[in-house]
Amino acid sequence: AKLEGFRNEPFTDFRQEPARQAMEEAIARVKSEELRREIPLRIGGRDIFTDTKIHSINPGNLDETIGWVSKADRDLAEQAMQAALEAFESWKKVPPRERAQYLLKAAALMTERKHEFSALMVLEAGKNYAEADADTAEAIDFLNFYAREMIRLSEINETMPLTPVPGEQNRLTYIPLGVGVIIPPWNFPLAICVGMTSAAIVSGNTVLLKPASNTPVIAYKFAALMEEVGLPAGVLNFIPGSGGEVGDYLTTHPQTRFISFTGSKEVGLRISKLAAEPAPGQIWIKRLVAEMGGKDGIVVDETADLDAAAQAIVASAFGYQGQKCSAGSRALIVESVYDEVVEKVVRLTKQLEIGLPEENKAVGPVIDEASFRKILDYIEIGKQEGQLLAGGRQAEGNGYYIEPTVFAGVDGKARIMQEEIFGPVLAIGQAKDWREAIAMYNDTEFGLTGAFFSREEDRISEALETMHCGNLYINRKCTGALVGAHPFGGFNLSGTDSKAGGYDYLLLFTQAKLTSRKL
Ligand code: NAD
Ligand code: ALA
Repeated sequence: AKLEGFRNEPFTDFRQEPARQAMEEAIARVKSEELRREIPLRIGGRDIFTDTKIHSINPGNLDETIGWVSKADRDLAEQAMQAALEAFESWKKVPPRERAQYLLKAAALMTERKHEFSALMVLEAGKNYAEADADTAEAIDFLNFYAREMIRLSEINETMPLTPVPGEQNRLTYIPLGVGVIIPPWNFPLAICVGMTSAAIVSGNTVLLKPASNTPVIAYKFAALMEEVGLPAGVLNFIPGSGGEVGDYLTTHPQTRFISFTGSKEVGLRISKLAAEPAPGQIWIKRLVAEMGGKDGIVVDETADLDAAAQAIVASAFGYQGQKCSAGSRALIVESVYDEVVEKVVRLTKQLEIGLPEENKAVGPVIDEASFRKILDYIEIGKQEGQLLAGGRQAEGNGYYIEPTVFAGVDGKARIMQEEIFGPVLAIGQAKDWREAIAMYNDTEFGLTGAFFSREEDRISEALETMHCGNLYINRKCTGALVGAHPFGGFNLSGTDSKAGGYDYLLLFTQAKLTSRKL
């Protein structure tokens, strides 16, 4: 059957009672059937249970165990490398169209079971219904999009012919690289894990997936789905483990051909440094795709729709507790409307209800104890650097709850304006005019997302050119990129701008081979 063009998976409207009920039922089902299991590594199609385990818990209810996940060490990482090397020899010969079928089948099954995947994220990652649903929708999109992209690239000679030369038959093919290490973060525990893994696999590579240690159970659910659709053994090896131990071992391994990393600037730069040094016996330059942190922001001028701007600021700052690389943790507002926007932002922030994600409260917990402490430390720093107008404390609950916090009057050079906090903390700064606000926005080592609010066409045109970030939005929030529509990735220390969900992405996991035959 002819494959239809790519379409984004629609989001669920949880204001509708049946949808809300379906999610509640899925959460109850996951709680009774999927939690507290022992989860194995999967190496070359074999289950391996280890004595040492990662204990995954619900960050919103610390007494609830999500799962006990086996943990790889260096020896097991080496076994996984050997399994992936062996599987590569056959997987690289599977035609692209056939490889794409595995992704399409997985997308279809995930769509059928979408609330089940979302429910597990509600419990393991502390996402409310809409955030979890968007994460699952994005994962489905990545599978559907990269499957189609691989087919397109495999037919590139038909769609983008090389310059004809009489007497020659020339072809360009995108062939796989080899074994890759996939290191995703916990904050989009399904979407980013699925996107990074499926892009590498569909391009003909075999992978070692080392999921984030806070969310390994949802990552396992994806790995199990790929087995269910028949992905051959050894193509996707699932090896949770310590970043420092397993991560460093594989990053420096001579047979690692590429590393696909999404996470913090600190870890990304470490991987970049380690991967750059060739190991004895290594015969290539490792390819590194690294997507890292952000200090994203929203600029508001005096002509803007101020209600829309305030809503966007609050949604961008506090969606998923500010734990998005795209989170709008800064707002830069021109002085003539500053007081009005600040007042609206504070009012909307104070309306946000905090509580258990499974009860679908707007604001849930942050991911773990280390984040909780770090964010509270930044709030103390913020008290020295600005005026605290909302939040500022830990919140009630048996989890890592922190009140959505707003600081105003913050200088552009302040630490809470410059450093990624990755929590529900918003810094607001005042600028004398819109150009100064844009200059403040650009004064960062990052460059991931940004938004500009204005009704003036000339200003919008200038902002489009001068705001320096990978994903720039006009008159809307700076989170919520859609696969295919808003290819995602940042400038500067936000990463290699690899544009996940974009039309160049798979090229990063291939090498182009030109063949020229004399006729
Ligand atoms: P992190 O850097 O702490 O961890 C990311 C992954 O790296 C995890 O799987 C972790 O186990 C692993 N790791 C840790 N040390 C390692 C090492 N030495 N070698 C190899 N792997 C190692 O980041 P996080 O806390 O999981 O995620 C939050 C960060 O991710 C934030 O900075 C956020 O902005 C960023 N992020 C960026 C994007 C993007 O597209 N740019 C998307 C999501 C998250
Ligand atoms: N893709 C996610 C967003 O845009 C990170 O919010």
